[in-house]
Amino acid sequence: MSTPSDDLASRARAIFSRLRSAEPVEERSGDAAESGISATVPEATLPSTAAPGPSVMTVPVGGSPTPSLAQMARQAKEDFEATPADVVRPLPRILAIANQKGGVGKTTTAVNLGAGLAELGYRVLIVDLDPQSNATTGLGVNARNLESSVYDAIMNETPIEDCIEPTAVRNLFVAPATIDLAGAEIELVPAFSRELKLRRALDTIDGEFDYTLIDCPPSLGLLTVNGLAAADEVVVPIQCEYYALEGLGQLLRNVQLVQSNLNPKLEVSAIILTMYDARTKLAEQVAQEVRDHFGPKVCRNLVPRTVRLSEAPSFGQPIIVFDPSSRGAIAYRELAKEVSGGAPQRSG
Ligand SMILES: Nc1ncnc2c1ncn2[C@@H]1O[C@H](COP(=O)(O)OP(=O)(O)OP(=O)(O)O)[C@@H](O)[C@H]1O
Ligand SMILES: [Mg+2]
Repeated sequence: MSTPSDDLASRARAIFSRLRSAEPVEERSGDAAESGISATVPEATLPSTAAPGPSVMTVPVGGSPTPSLAQMARQAKEDFEATPADVVRPLPRILAIANQKGGVGKTTTAVNLGAGLAELGYRVLIVDLDPQSNATTGLGVNARNLESSVYDAIMNETPIEDCIEPTAVRNLFVAPATIDLAGAEIELVPAFSRELKLRRALDTIDGEFDYTLIDCPPSLGLLTVNGLAAADEVVVPIQCEYYALEGLGQLLRNVQLVQSNLNPKLEVSAIILTMYDARTKLAEQVAQEVRDHFGPKVCRNLVPRTVRLSEAPSFGQPIIVFDPSSRGAIAYRELAKEVSGGAPQRSG
């Protein structure tokens, strides 16, 4: 007799088999994938160079033939398998922490992976690209007391350096977000080079930080596209629960679109399994399926579900400050070692 857990596991397997065959997971109709003419993907906004456009992702037609969604998904899958998560990459590195699913651990990972890297001696900047400002408050910065924020760096060309704040952790800095950023999603639509605003802002501090971690909002809109266009790598947190797998195909396609149209060097460098609850069979099965499918891209160290990790932000502290010997602190320390691959600090 099948149990609810078996049902969920078999649904999870079905999603992975669709990913395996590189079919779009959330395709509403097969037409777009087969036509190969142009991809219009709801939810996202990409790319134009100037003119106001619709708030959907549209891929320019003309010039070189536009790959179909299925081709892009296949390419994304191949890119995924190319390089393992713990390879040593040259510094400086810019990582976008992205997943359009809400509540999968993006901000927790940005804050605590950033703190772990800072503890290893790297100079780290966290860019809060989410109007919810969770990374900002989670690092103890009060958004109300700020003279400028990421919004000003993106929309008003205020030097991003002017808004960077120190945190309780040595070597760890934050470019804070305020609720103004919610307006940027709309204000960016008619802007010139609207997808490259963050990249331009970060160019002005090129080389000042070993790691820049961009905490993306839970959407595939223009703010996330700015995050992907500014990054070298994408890190995808995946919650170890069934529904967290939905939308992964869409995310991979969007990464591929940004790579082909805006940022050729972009690659998915790591998948981080979050909120792993060892007591549930489903968490184990999902983690195993993700590993079977994405191989060495999946970080060896996974993040356990622990109450201490969810308490730390309300104290404005990363877990390594809030409870340095907790399981969450140990997990993020180990992840920081794994993601850095032990790259030597540039400052020596
Ligand atoms: N490993 C964990 N164990 C327990 N709670 C966690 C863990 N990771 C994150 N949480 C909690 O889960 C919630 C969602 O996490 P988080 O804010 O990091 O996700 P997110 O992907 O950034 O969300 P959003 O999409 O809204 O930006 C938060 O309340 C957070 O404290
Ligand atoms: Mg978040």
